[in-house]
Amino acid sequence: MAVDLLLGLQWGDEGKGKIVDVLTKNYDIIARFQGGPNAGHTLEFDGIKHVLHTIPSGIFHDNAMNVIGNGVVIDPVIFNRELNNLNKFEGIDYKSKLIISRKAHLILPTHRLLDAASEASKGKAKIGSTLKGIGPTYMDKTGRNGIRVGDLELTDWKDRYATLRDKHLTMIDYYDAKIEFDLDELESEFFAAIKVLKSLRFIDSEEYLYQAQKSGKTILAEGAQGSLLDIDFGTYPYVTSSNTTAAGACTGLGVPPNQIGDVFGIFKAYTTRVGSGPFPTELFDEAGETMGRVGNEFGATTGRPRRCGWLDLVALKYAVRVNGVTQLMMMKGDVLSGFDTLKVCTSYNYKGKEIDHLPYNIEPENVEVVYKEMAGWSEDLTGMTEASQLPKELNNYIDYLEKELETPIKIVSVGPDRTQTIHR
Ligand code: IMP
Repeated sequence: MAVDLLLGLQWGDEGKGKIVDVLTKNYDIIARFQGGPNAGHTLEFDGIKHVLHTIPSGIFHDNAMNVIGNGVVIDPVIFNRELNNLNKFEGIDYKSKLIISRKAHLILPTHRLLDAASEASKGKAKIGSTLKGIGPTYMDKTGRNGIRVGDLELTDWKDRYATLRDKHLTMIDYYDAKIEFDLDELESEFFAAIKVLKSLRFIDSEEYLYQAQKSGKTILAEGAQGSLLDIDFGTYPYVTSSNTTAAGACTGLGVPPNQIGDVFGIFKAYTTRVGSGPFPTELFDEAGETMGRVGNEFGATTGRPRRCGWLDLVALKYAVRVNGVTQLMMMKGDVLSGFDTLKVCTSYNYKGKEIDHLPYNIEPENVEVVYKEMAGWSEDLTGMTEASQLPKELNNYIDYLEKELETPIKIVSVGPDRTQTIHR
């Protein structure tokens, strides 16, 4: 059986958690392959909102096994808090439904401090990181200094921990960023959380997934963040530190490229971004304010308000191509209800020349956006359940995007709840 992928096509927060939750009934295994607790995947059902950071979004279903792959970085402290949240709801047997790759790397308390010190030292040029220690942890991974989940089964891991911690403390001094912390407190919280982590099952996830595939199990790989935050293909340096695009699923799970099946690409009917960095279609007017308010655009991890703007088809086409998307899912269509006119960015005026591909440098001084206007709709979509109920202006919007992106839009989401999902 092939492994299907589900990825965000913009700057994250597209609604991946909701769609994984909707699709989980079709899969035996849901596997996270990159990122860490910088992600905030929101799911809503039975009137309750759940936010997951590290745990795959299939955890609320009995049928699915949830795998945290080798490409993920885990903060035991945040992970422990997530488990405690799950404990509040009856019947979520995470001990038997959640398994972790031995090759996943650990976020140490000093990784978080380093993130804060590095950001503080950048001043205005800061990335706008979630400060969860993601960048420093991936740096230690590629620098071959990291501590992996599997190390917790060895006797000497605490010595290696101490060596790395001491190095981090020296680096924090180097930044001279005046970060205040109580290391004893951070460490006692960390070691308590490690105990909880060790109560879960560690696996060699590449072998587990190979055997699962061989025995005919269906697997969905769940991405975090979005394609425009990819370390290679995103708006560098305003990106995260992992490959959020399709290839990241291969390296983050050990799945060979020829085993990838469908690639589900998720995008919002408009665009948002948290943190710093270029955003050509960003709005600073009432329209942007309306999107933020109606769409409740606040970061699920940090609570920061998200920047909002019109749909950027240039960036979206790029993401569809880089990922090899086979099916699209359009989220938050309901948020655009009430706009008389919608705008879609169809090309950039790049250094005086009109182009329809994403150039190397999309800073505002190089790029002026060219918009196409389309008629909006006023109907409230949130109670609709069938594609036949969608207003004709929304259908025109969808048809136009499908044609431009050369990919079918199979799901239109009209609200945060599991049930507010229209299949086409
Ligand atoms: P970091 O990955 O926490 O270092 O953050 C790097 C950049 O990616 C910042 O602009 C963050 O706001 C952004 N970012 C990281 N994770 C997410 C996410 O899950 N959703 C949206 N933006 C994110």
